[in-house]
Amino acid sequence: MIEIIVNDTRHPLDNVPEDMPLLWVLRDRIGLTGTKFGCGGGFCGACTVHLDGEAVRACLLPIAAVAGRRITTIEGLSKDGTHPLQRAWVAEDVPQCGYCQSGQLMQAAAFLKGRASVSDDEITAAMSGNICRCGTYARIRKAIRRAASEA
Ligand code: FES
Ligand code: FES
Repeated sequence: MIEIIVNDTRHPLDNVPEDMPLLWVLRDRIGLTGTKFGCGGGFCGACTVHLDGEAVRACLLPIAAVAGRRITTIEGLSKDGTHPLQRAWVAEDVPQCGYCQSGQLMQAAAFLKGRASVSDDEITAAMSGNICRCGTYARIRKAIRRAASEA
């Protein structure tokens, strides 16, 4: 049996192969479908979650490697959608199809944590591994700048 902690809730998991990716467990075993499958190989960022506060790719992490660690998904970013980035995302009307956006938000949240200000270059570097096929990059940048200025 493997136990993981997701959004402050403990989840004991029976009959889960140790090499099953965290992304599969989140979506198929726990029912948290906000985290998306994109490439399955660590290239797109759609599956980004936080592991002990750091942004990680859930498609690459075998479940045994995260036993007992604190995982946060988009469902746990805030209780009511009022994280500064979530408010900024709405204000800047960021999403188009939306598929990449939970990963974008989780990547941005880990990046912004504890920062008083951010430069465009820092945003570009931090977000470079999160692909948006709809090309919402300019609005993502604006929303991150807005959230940073309001934090
Ligand atoms: S699905 Fe994990 S990085 Fe693309
Ligand atoms: S909003 Fe469609 S892929 Fe990013």
